[in-house]
Amino acid sequence: MNNGSKSRPRVSPIGARVLATFSRMTMSGPARAILVANQKGGVGKSTTVAAVAEMIASGGRRGRRVLVVDGEPQANVTVEDLGVSGDRGQSLAQTLQYGAPLIPVRDVRSNLDVIPGGPQLAVVGAGAHLMAENGINMATNFETQLAALCDVEGYDLVIIDSGPGDVPLLDTYLSTANYLLIPTRDDQASLGGVERLARRFWRARQGGASIQLLGVLLFDVNPRAVKRNQEVFDQVTEMLEGSGTTPFDITIRSAPAAAVDMRTLHKTAGELVALAQDDRRWRLSKLKDKQNPDRAMWTSDPSALAADYQELVRQIVARLVDYESRRVGERV
Ligand SMILES: Nc1ncnc2c1ncn2[C@@H]1O[C@H](COP(=O)(O)OP(=O)(O)O)[C@@H](O)[C@H]1O
Ligand SMILES: [Mg+2]
Repeated sequence: MNNGSKSRPRVSPIGARVLATFSRMTMSGPARAILVANQKGGVGKSTTVAAVAEMIASGGRRGRRVLVVDGEPQANVTVEDLGVSGDRGQSLAQTLQYGAPLIPVRDVRSNLDVIPGGPQLAVVGAGAHLMAENGINMATNFETQLAALCDVEGYDLVIIDSGPGDVPLLDTYLSTANYLLIPTRDDQASLGGVERLARRFWRARQGGASIQLLGVLLFDVNPRAVKRNQEVFDQVTEMLEGSGTTPFDITIRSAPAAAVDMRTLHKTAGELVALAQDDRRWRLSKLKDKQNPDRAMWTSDPSALAADYQELVRQIVARLVDYESRRVGERV
């Protein structure tokens, strides 16, 4: 793990090399879909979906087209993280139930579209057993419509957020996505959520799903608790034995002040960096004018947090390249 670095990290737009890799990957096939899931809430799923999606989409001239699918009735990534009011999950619910085309909210950021989440999805989840009895296959409906939308829109990456509780929805996403990323906090309840999800993942694979485990991400980590972090890292590594993957080396540091700012301002970690600079300048100018500046943001410097996500994106892309080059090798 490399959260312990002492020097102040620099946050620049995602490296050109990383995104150049994406363009090479794009030439070899359709968009890839990463499901972010854990059967425990509050472990950083939605925050991570927004941060990673926004960072890949906003990579300057090399930004890639990204679609976030908010598969969660609570719609945190839609409403809180990205600040989109959305459609209460209506479009995704209609797709799952009736195979209707997915309707994205376009350009919520440059290169970034969203299929909103919302309470309509809870209705779908609750009625899933009836649908199955009537021969409705939510996974087929979702997969078909997602592929159709990706064909038209040319997304390079789809990232699916999910809730902890709705098992029929989770199973649908597990059988549609290509990759699974599991964020977790280091408490036993969250690690229990990882284990439960890992079991669902294996069941999905046994049922014919092609999803691969991309990795486990430790979230809300105290970079100074080196011994504890190593212990958790080892525990998760053991849990993943035989899965062909390991936890990500990068962990997302604990940043409660930045977390409040991100949710109240509807900004991702990367976006907060520029905002914090503006805020600092504004407060200085107020002080110069001998005025008392109101507190606009709680965090003074979100750049270390943003740098964690930047490194995470680098490691995600490296793992995607690895998996996809292996697949190309198998085909040859
Ligand atoms: N780096 C961080 N450190 C501490 N708390 C964070 C951090 N980033 C986000 N949070 C907060 O953690 C909580 C859970 O995050 P969230 O992404 O909603 O989890 P999930 O989607 O798994 O339920 C939220 O209140 C969020 O604001
Ligand atoms: Mg969430």
